[in-house]
Amino acid sequence: MTVDTTDQTPALAMFRTLLGANKNWLDFASFMHHALYDSKYGYYTGDAYKFGSRGDFITAPEISDLFGRTIARQVAQVLKISGGGVLELGGGSGILGSDILVELNRLECPIEEYLFFEPSPTLTQRQKERLAQLAPAIGAKVRWVSELPTSFKGVILANEVFDALPVHLLSCNDEGWKERGVIFQNESLAWKDKPIEDERLSSAVNHLNVGAPYVTEVCLAVNGLVANLSESLDVGALLAIDYGYEHQVYYHPDRRDGTLSCHYQHRVDSDPLDRPGLKDITAHVDFTRVANAGMDAGLEVSGYVTQADFLVNCGITDLLQAIDPDRLEEYLPAVSAVQKLLSPSIMGDMFKVMSLSRGIDEPLVGFSRRDRRHVL
Ligand SMILES: C[S@@+](CC[C@H](N)C(=O)[O-])C[C@H]1O[C@@H](n2cnc3c(N)ncnc32)[C@H](O)[C@@H]1O
Repeated sequence: MTVDTTDQTPALAMFRTLLGANKNWLDFASFMHHALYDSKYGYYTGDAYKFGSRGDFITAPEISDLFGRTIARQVAQVLKISGGGVLELGGGSGILGSDILVELNRLECPIEEYLFFEPSPTLTQRQKERLAQLAPAIGAKVRWVSELPTSFKGVILANEVFDALPVHLLSCNDEGWKERGVIFQNESLAWKDKPIEDERLSSAVNHLNVGAPYVTEVCLAVNGLVANLSESLDVGALLAIDYGYEHQVYYHPDRRDGTLSCHYQHRVDSDPLDRPGLKDITAHVDFTRVANAGMDAGLEVSGYVTQADFLVNCGITDLLQAIDPDRLEEYLPAVSAVQKLLSPSIMGDMFKVMSLSRGIDEPLVGFSRRDRRHVL
């Protein structure tokens, strides 16, 4: 299959050069990395708005401050044990960090620092603008870091970051498993499958119990990221919030087309070769892989629940009840937001929350009911 490039992007010329220098084949993870994070043409480098109604997609913190305020309750519990601060990965527009800091202040929870680790310079700038609106005493805690800290204490937060990590694509037909990559052909980007060379990928597909035809993803980058975060973390918890499944559900025989999807102006499609650099590319998270990567790195898998259960366990309904129902302009949007965050048919079930921790002996409030670690 080829893609018509008449309506294509500056990134296409970059891919033509890159493919020319790589014997005209790029594994999909490298393609995705460049399409999202290339320093000149990557989606997350560009100026387009991305989050919220003006952008390409809406994430939970953009729906309501109740999301960040509820997460702050879990953060407060960990900070009481660990001391230290919060390290937020991929903070997007900065709204989640801002909401958490305001709520921690309201809860009178001491915090040493709030660090943002953000690979995108444009998003870093947007975060700085947003956080500059905080009261000076709160804003003084905020810093941006370009490397992961050492001996970090506290909470590492990753909301919709793992789904943005580059994935390898694998396809199975009657001849067996191949790795799917990208070529340049007839002025277009196109798919081409090759024998799998990376042992980690062969091992991953050898464990799958599915029949041809089948296309799926494997995210090797999870292991590197979790290992790096574990090295950073002295005591505290990594909270990963994202859409995804545990291994058995992710690699179900019926999920023949995988989970790769693209977001462009609130439309979802499954063609990453069209308009690279202009649209977001994501894949669901295999939470069993995240858990195993955590254990390999010496972290404890201290909880795994749906987003709905996490938010309810942390008290989102108490926050809602505290809003006066007679103040309709505040109450009605809050009810609608909570419904989106909790409803099984919207975000409540598809999104999961996992905690990987070190040195936290107390049960975490967000995972106190309906923990699902047994299904991992
Ligand atoms: C889908 S956006 C989510 C943004 C924000 N957390 C939210 O929920 O609105 C993905 C974010 O992850 C960042 N990101 C991607 N890879 C990362 C990595 N290895 N470390 C930290 N951030 C990363 C991107 O730059 C972007 O800010």
